[in-house]
Amino acid sequence: MLEIKNLHARVAETGTEIIRGLDLTVKAGEVAAIMGPNGSGKSTLSYILAGRPDYEVTEGDILYDGQSILEMDPAERAAAGVFLAFQYPMEIPGVATMEFLKVAINSQRRARGDAELKIPDLLKKVKEAAGTLEMDMAMLKRPLNVGFSGGEKKRAEILQMMLLEPKLCVLDETDSGLDIDALKIVADGVNALRSPERAMVVITHYQRLLDYIVPDTVHVLSRGRVVKSGDKGLALELEKNGYAGIVGEAA
Ligand SMILES: Nc1ncnc2c1ncn2[C@@H]1O[C@H](COP(=O)(O)OP(=O)(O)O)[C@@H](O)[C@H]1O
Ligand SMILES: [Mg+2]
Repeated sequence: MLEIKNLHARVAETGTEIIRGLDLTVKAGEVAAIMGPNGSGKSTLSYILAGRPDYEVTEGDILYDGQSILEMDPAERAAAGVFLAFQYPMEIPGVATMEFLKVAINSQRRARGDAELKIPDLLKKVKEAAGTLEMDMAMLKRPLNVGFSGGEKKRAEILQMMLLEPKLCVLDETDSGLDIDALKIVADGVNALRSPERAMVVITHYQRLLDYIVPDTVHVLSRGRVVKSGDKGLALELEKNGYAGIVGEAA
């Protein structure tokens, strides 16, 4: 479903290269964990997948369902089923969370040629998903992410993911800022979305999240490249021995 080939990318403004020959394949139905030390390029990779214009791809390609997405803007990628849950979700003052969800869902439906969801149907869907995440409906009247705690922001991200039903989900450090109960709720939400037609890329610094979201494959990023791949055992090995060994081996 996702095939990244020899990807090189840099910061558009300064030309600093951050992704340096990255290869990664994630099949449909697979949950791939991306691990790696701070500054290895994990968040940058997720931004590039989402199509943020502040990064430039200088070499290589990103194929999604066999097609290059490099020429697609972020909205086109989203309409095609690519979803990114941010490490630091943006605050949107003045836009109630519910209104945001409505616009996000319906603009994607329009882009796909589907009819817009009627308000009662939308409310029903949102209520169901919010219930799974143990989110209070009152929260959805508040502006998106404004004054939300770390855990509430992450829940709001997972709620969007549940409602948009993407084919490729990229979750950046979904565990940061979560207490153990919130972590379980978010992991349950993610696990409920596991499906043979969907691929997930779970970026995390710590193995802790992977106790709850058990990955099919684990890839270690260092200096903008995948330097080691394995199964869930690799995450446990990293937990025990740290990154130094693997990152050193590759350098
Ligand atoms: N806009 C930018 N300008 C300059 N350097 C950047 C920019 N974005 C990211 N970087 C640098 O790229 C490296 C990778 O960052 P990041 O992708 O956030 O790492 P990670 O998520 O793995 O911690 C870091 O050294 C970071 O400082
Ligand atoms: Mg990061």
